[in-house]
Amino acid sequence: MNSQFYVTTPIYYVNAEPHIGHAYSTIVADVLTRFYSLAGLETFFLTGTDEHGDKIVSAAETSGQTPKEYVDRISGLFRTLWPKLNISNDYFVRTTDTGHQDTVRFILNRVNENGDIYFSEYEGLYCFGCERFYTERELVDGKCPDHQTEPEVIKESNYFFRMSKYQDWLIDHIRQNPGFIRPERYKNEVLSFLKEPLEDLCISRPKSRLTWGITLPFDENFVTYVWFDALINYVSAMGYPDGEGFKHFWPSAQHIIAKDILKPHGIYWPCMLKSAGIEPYQHLNVHGYWNVNEGKMSKSIGNVVRPLDLVDIYGLDAFRYFLMRDMVFGLDSEFSEQGLVGRINADLANDLGNLVSRSLTMVHKYFKGELPEPGPSEVADEELRAATLELVDRYEELMKGLGFHKALMAIWEVIGKLNKYIDTMEPWVLAKSDRERLGTVLFHIIEPLKTVAALIWPFMPESAEKIQGQLGLSKKGRDFVLEDLRVWGKERPVRAMQKAPALFPRIEPKKQEDPAKKEKKKVPEKEIPLISFDEFQKMDLRIGTIRKAEAIPGSKKLIKLTVDIGEERTVVAGLVGHYTEEDLVDKQVVLVTNLEPVKLMGVESHGMVLAAEDESGVHVLVPDVKTAPGSKVK
Ligand code: ME8
Repeated sequence: MNSQFYVTTPIYYVNAEPHIGHAYSTIVADVLTRFYSLAGLETFFLTGTDEHGDKIVSAAETSGQTPKEYVDRISGLFRTLWPKLNISNDYFVRTTDTGHQDTVRFILNRVNENGDIYFSEYEGLYCFGCERFYTERELVDGKCPDHQTEPEVIKESNYFFRMSKYQDWLIDHIRQNPGFIRPERYKNEVLSFLKEPLEDLCISRPKSRLTWGITLPFDENFVTYVWFDALINYVSAMGYPDGEGFKHFWPSAQHIIAKDILKPHGIYWPCMLKSAGIEPYQHLNVHGYWNVNEGKMSKSIGNVVRPLDLVDIYGLDAFRYFLMRDMVFGLDSEFSEQGLVGRINADLANDLGNLVSRSLTMVHKYFKGELPEPGPSEVADEELRAATLELVDRYEELMKGLGFHKALMAIWEVIGKLNKYIDTMEPWVLAKSDRERLGTVLFHIIEPLKTVAALIWPFMPESAEKIQGQLGLSKKGRDFVLEDLRVWGKERPVRAMQKAPALFPRIEPKKQEDPAKKEKKKVPEKEIPLISFDEFQKMDLRIGTIRKAEAIPGSKKLIKLTVDIGEERTVVAGLVGHYTEEDLVDKQVVLVTNLEPVKLMGVESHGMVLAAEDESGVHVLVPDVKTAPGSKVK
């Protein structure tokens, strides 16, 4: 493995204010940087702003400022937002920086000297929104798929980059390096695009049309196409060609982007690097879109979600946790404030917050904050120890593979085990009967908690450090390394532990306005009809394991499940928005198997999954331990 880690976010256009989509990519890069620092690597994290091109000129005009005044202002909004989201970037690059412009000219000269640039007249379909030419094949119903506008026919002389020359090399490189573009679906998308002959890339704009850009080093009548300029930020910020930073970190480079800019990063950029004689990046990590009300966020629709609005209400760490827990990296996700509140109440206030506060209260109450040496351990203690040590390995593997939501689920599994251990061990009973055992039990609670605090640090740095402080540890945050957590009992508390105030206060969900809904929930007890035991016996309830979960096209609520109850059953369940498809696969559920089949959204359902509903959402009933599929529920 490399001993360096270099990560970048897209450099954002300064034609709009930052929203949760920008926040997500940047938080992902931050989480990865913090994780690799825990893994003992030397890290470098770059973000910045993309400030040239038509789009910026028109945004500046609308706001009545010169392009320079305008880019300084909006770039400033991004730059001042990041510290408020606890983003730990090492550098902030702007494409209007002189150093960046010098590197762009250097690379253009190099590519030109290699014979990869030519001048030619071109007539093509140009989308001003995207600032690029489109081929007929790329248009949807004759319109730009992003802007839904018809492109204009433009005929002009321009400089072109011989991208086609690198097509075969790129296909080979992608095939030979399976993690080059990930997840897999995006690699396949790029490979499928590369099945057709690649066209050369127009890399200039005549100054008669656009002056806000970097002048070509070999023709001062033209400026550089905004993508050719912008992509170079990833090396210019590191001081390419001579900078030590570039030499040191470039071999470990990983980019984070969303699917909208897959083509420039998956195709243009590797070809540009190859032509300039620079090694390709290590990984292109591509995530999906945050949607709001099932649609793209947009200023014109007025559904843009601003990160600081949420942070002000719910707290920074809750916001970071939610984004990382609710999106499966690579897939789209639906943003809802209700979902955010659900996560805060269930995962943060109930599971983690309670665990920390009840554990520390006990250590304080019974031992004044200082635990004695543990005595001999019992089976349950050993199981907890094994689960905690195993968690470190699982977490490391999942984080390296961008499985953030799974890494969090793995941590929460241990949190669940700890809460259960406390309930079973009943330290409050031991306090009266066996103080030595009490000390051992509390030791087996504090040790895993120490691991939990260290592992959540990349996601929730402030809360993790608070917990570490309350645990009386000498190390905090990035001082920890994963290796510390692989040795049971290492890095024990050096100071007395403190009582912990609530880390994540419960949020009262906004009241439902719909009175009909309220009525439905409030069924007075006396109105629930009694049934006989024989009637209950008629119901066949079984444990099932979900083998497959598939979206039902056109349905906002329903999902099609294949459930194994000894045989496979197709069941339709209203779980969309509460669980992702990935969450459901392998989960065990309780199934009513002898309901009459019913057709829902065209799919025949043979059973019903049992679930409970409260303000935080819908939760399926799960057996306490893994149980053989088909087992009868009595
Ligand atoms: O494309 N969900 O800048 P940009 C998730 N300047 N992520 C989202 C998102 C959403 N709904 N909306 C935006 C550009 N993003 C170029 C990049 S890089 C050399 C030049 C995030 O301001 C996501 O990372 O349009 C996406 O790729 C990026 O913002 C696009 O930012």
